[in-house]
Amino acid sequence: MMEKVKVALLGLGTVGSGVWKMISENRDVIARKTGKWYQISSVLVKNPEKKRNLDGVEEVLTTDFSQVLARDPDVLIEVIGGVEPAFSYIKKAMAKGCHIVTANKELMAKRGQELEELSGQYGVQLRYEASVGGGIPVISTIRHFLKANRIYRFYGILNGTTNYILTRMSEEACSFADVLKDAQEKGYAEADPSSDVEGLDAVYKLSILMRLAFQVHVPVSQIPCQGITDLSPQELQLAEMLGYSVKLLARAEQFGENGPVSCSVLPTLVPLHYSLASVRDVYNAVTIEGDYVQDLTFVGQGAGQKPTASAVVEDLLNTGISFEEETGCQTNPWVLAGEDVFLTRFMWLKVRGQVTKPALEAQLKEVFASKLLRWAMLPEQAHTSIGLIVQGCNEQERKDWLSRWDVEQSQNRPVLVGKTLLDRCPPLFLAKTKA
Ligand SMILES: NC(=O)c1ccc[n+]([C@@H]2O[C@H](COP(=O)([O-])OP(=O)(O)OC[C@H]3O[C@@H](n4cnc5c(N)ncnc54)[C@H](OP(=O)(O)O)[C@@H]3O)[C@@H](O)[C@H]2O)c1
Repeated sequence: MMEKVKVALLGLGTVGSGVWKMISENRDVIARKTGKWYQISSVLVKNPEKKRNLDGVEEVLTTDFSQVLARDPDVLIEVIGGVEPAFSYIKKAMAKGCHIVTANKELMAKRGQELEELSGQYGVQLRYEASVGGGIPVISTIRHFLKANRIYRFYGILNGTTNYILTRMSEEACSFADVLKDAQEKGYAEADPSSDVEGLDAVYKLSILMRLAFQVHVPVSQIPCQGITDLSPQELQLAEMLGYSVKLLARAEQFGENGPVSCSVLPTLVPLHYSLASVRDVYNAVTIEGDYVQDLTFVGQGAGQKPTASAVVEDLLNTGISFEEETGCQTNPWVLAGEDVFLTRFMWLKVRGQVTKPALEAQLKEVFASKLLRWAMLPEQAHTSIGLIVQGCNEQERKDWLSRWDVEQSQNRPVLVGKTLLDRCPPLFLAKTKA
């Protein structure tokens, strides 16, 4: 007789429906591989009138959370989203001895530490693989396969919607607004895209990964963040002429064991020869660097019904299997300002009128000398776009130079410079004590 596992499902939207379908359609393969029979005993939704089109779901639908707990589930899957009521429901279920699986990045970024403590207190498991990178098993990799490594850095593309928009802007020279509209029509961007395009979604995921990789809790509000709304196709074109692709890069690194942490979510120039630069469309990618494993890169679909349901159902199947609990984390880490570590930057500016190449070259050489690594210009009708890659240029130098031009628009973006980042961090800087 096969062991039965009773499952409560909170939410039946994009992810919840995918979970329902995967458990129904793959029941045979799941039973064969686990020896268990997973049965969804209740499904909590908000709107009981909505048409669901899922075989058999009507019999277990409810809008009353107490009905869910009354059926004594072994595992509760939360795919409602947001902090409340998700947090309260999970807490109540834990108190009744339920293991928890969630895909909720906002909840795990804002209240994850508290939930970890509660799971320890109640002796239940808390799994949240789908909260970062959708179908990519990045959380399990850090938790189970990199325990003996000192992870000192990770970075990647953690938001598929923005990567899709940037890919199309760069390949088709379309404006942000036009691509966003089209992405919304195709279902790649939400009706309210602000969390994605302003970078908040990636910030949630970065915060979760920092807790796992460095054992530090950096509150979401302390993570420097800038979205992609002010990027233009000309800027992307200039960056490409200089050998870079612009990505909304989420990155974090720790300078020494228990040392200061630097993290950010920013539109960043990635060298075209990096594998990350060729990650297109809705794909996500994460590179993790550890002292022994060196570097690992994962690429996959970071969102969408099937990949996300896959991560949730795999978590469900692993629930009950021996599991390493979180071992606490530093709650007040020293977080460095982004400028402290990004020394190489891309300056993009749009100046009024036409500029001649020899005049520009002479002026650049005079101002930046050896700090100027590369530059390019793009004449337009009434403007000239100029792109510069400069190293070690401080804010004052940047302002001085800008004051010499009739500048209509300017941007100052970081450039990912790879492994050199740690090497060139002077010992003095590491020894600096926290203010
Ligand atoms: N979509 C993705 O690709 C993806 C990827 C990774 C992670 N996630 C995460 O997965 C979670 C769910 O995302 P989703 O895209 O599936 O959301 P969604 O399509 O908006 O679905 C939300 C579901 O939760 C139900 N719900 C909302 N508020 C509720 C409440 N107060 N009480 C009971 N039920 C409530 C809704 O009920 P009704 O159906 O009655 O409206 C709906 O079924 C989020 O945390 C999201 O960040 C999503």
